[in-house]
Amino acid sequence: MLGFVTQQQIKAVIPAAGLGTRFLPATKAMPKEMLPVVDKPAIQYVVEEAVDAGIDDVLVIIGRNKNAIANHFDSVPELEVKLMEKGDTGRLERVVKSTDMGDIHYVRQGEPKGLGHAVLRARTHVGDSSFAVLLGDDLIDARDPLLTTMLDKHRETGATIIALMEVDPDSIHMYGAAAVEETGTDGFVKVTGLVEKPAREDAPSNLAVIGRYVLPPAVFDILERTEPGKGGEIQLTDALQELAADADGPGVYGVVFGGRRYDTGDRADYIKAIVQLAADRDDLGPELRPWLKEFAERL
Ligand code: G1P
Repeated sequence: MLGFVTQQQIKAVIPAAGLGTRFLPATKAMPKEMLPVVDKPAIQYVVEEAVDAGIDDVLVIIGRNKNAIANHFDSVPELEVKLMEKGDTGRLERVVKSTDMGDIHYVRQGEPKGLGHAVLRARTHVGDSSFAVLLGDDLIDARDPLLTTMLDKHRETGATIIALMEVDPDSIHMYGAAAVEETGTDGFVKVTGLVEKPAREDAPSNLAVIGRYVLPPAVFDILERTEPGKGGEIQLTDALQELAADADGPGVYGVVFGGRRYDTGDRADYIKAIVQLAADRDDLGPELRPWLKEFAERL
């Protein structure tokens, strides 16, 4: 039976095997998922989001040069002892938190053949259950619990649930784009079609797929036979299009997100994400906000 699983059974899958070419040379020897966003690596925000949604089993799909990710979530007793001796409880707490986040597993992708291929690598670990996929380039503000809403919708309907967000039509070519129908519930739409990174004029709407998915195990069989699509890669969007087109299945629905999302996928957006998150924080905001105003006036 599809869906209707308890939250405890849902595992999270975080693909982190991309090459990070947009951040070269910073990502020559370091995975892009380890780039700091204020004082935490980007991937830690994503793992925290899964844990906050009640998921305690996380599988990270890693590629070459990605050992730093696994090292980050390991505990470093000598560092903890040092901080304890110094009485630096604030830092100690933050370090312990980074190692105390449920069960984190790793599997390697081997060859970078696309997001669909990366997700397929999770098959053995996930088994015959629904699971969540979280993409590290999209950070969702912890105050706007998108994944929790998606998991609730999945439990109610048994359907595939994806996160959608309205974007400027000029940007839709950077995303999967969805054709949708209203359901009668605000912010919740039926997805009738999906296209990966269409040109503006071919896009079915300006509703972009942002990197959060709650998927049924049936997606694995589809991914096994999904041919390379856009960019010569096996696209998750193409497999989801098949689920959306299956009139006998529970279908694909979208939660339209209106909250705070930070894109860390390219350099300018990454810088904006850091500035926004830091300016909002109680420890850094009071110093940063007046400085930002003054700086903006000088531009
Ligand atoms: C991936 C997906 C795309 C989605 C995007 C969200 O693309 O293929 O459908 O809209 O993530 O961030 P990528 O940005 O990895 O090329």
